[in-house]
Amino acid sequence: MTEKATDFGYQQVTPTEKTERVTAVFNAVATEYDLMNDLMSFGVHRLWKRYAVALCAIRKNFQVLDVAGGTGDLARLIYQQLGTDGSITVCDINAMMLQQGRNKSIDHGIFKGINYLCGNAESLPFADNYFDCITIAFGLRNVTNKELALRSIYDKLKYGSQCLILEFSKVVIPVLDKLYDQYSFNVIPKLGKIIANDEASYQYLVESIRTHPDQKTLSSMLENAGFAQVQYHNLSGGIVAIHRAYKL
Ligand SMILES: C[S@@+](CC[C@H](N)C(=O)[O-])C[C@H]1O[C@@H](n2cnc3c(N)ncnc32)[C@H](O)[C@@H]1O
Repeated sequence: MTEKATDFGYQQVTPTEKTERVTAVFNAVATEYDLMNDLMSFGVHRLWKRYAVALCAIRKNFQVLDVAGGTGDLARLIYQQLGTDGSITVCDINAMMLQQGRNKSIDHGIFKGINYLCGNAESLPFADNYFDCITIAFGLRNVTNKELALRSIYDKLKYGSQCLILEFSKVVIPVLDKLYDQYSFNVIPKLGKIIANDEASYQYLVESIRTHPDQKTLSSMLENAGFAQVQYHNLSGGIVAIHRAYKL
C-alpha cells in the first residue's frame, strides 16, 4: 500500500520522508536554534512563550508535559512555577534538540527537576489520563500526522485539564501580512545561511508556516480530536496564535 502524500513545506512527500526530513532539519539547526529564534523574532518569541505559560495556570502540584519541547524554553518557565510535588517533562522526537535543552538548563543552574524523553507526539509514551496540562510550542507544524498527535495529547490529559498550542498562524492584519511575507521569504533563509550555514532548513521553516492549518482549521481539528471549549488568541496580529482546549 502506498503512503498518502503530506506536506514538507511546499513539497509533497511520503509521511516517512517527512519525519526523516524534519529530523534532519532539527539535527542541522539544533546548535544555533536558540540564537536563530532570538534573531528571527527580535526576541519576541520569549514574550509569546511567557504569555502561553501564563495561560496554563500552573499549580504547584501539576504534572505537565511539553510536547516537541526542543531546547526547553517552555519547560524552564513552567519549572519555575512548580513545587516539589509537581513535574515537567519535555518529550521531543529529536535527541539533539533535547541535548541542547539539557545543556541550556544546566547553564541556567537547573540540574534536576526537568525530565527529558525522546518520543513521538503521534504516540506519546505515557499513561492515559495522567497530565494536568500539556503544551506544544512551535511543534505541531512539524509533526507528520497532526490528527494522531492531537488525539494522543487528548488521551494523556486528565479529564478537566487543558492543552495549549502555541504556533505560527495566519496573519489577520492587512499590510502586516504582506510585510511579514516579504520578511519571511527574503530575510529568514538568508539569516539561516549566515548564522547556521543552512538556508534550506529556514526555507522549510517559512514554507511550513504557510502550509500549517489556520486558526479556525486548527480549532476544528482540536474538536475532532475530542477537545471541548476550544478558543484561540492571536498574538502579534496572528503571526502566532495560542489555542486552548479542554478534555471534559
Ligand atoms: C520549532 S521546534 C520547537 C521547540 C520548542 N518547543 C520551542 O518552542 O522552542 C520544533 C520541535 O518539534 C520537534 N518535533 C518534530 N516532530 C515531532 C514529533 N513527531 N514528535 C515530537 N517532537 C517533534 C522537533 O524535533 C523540534 O524540536
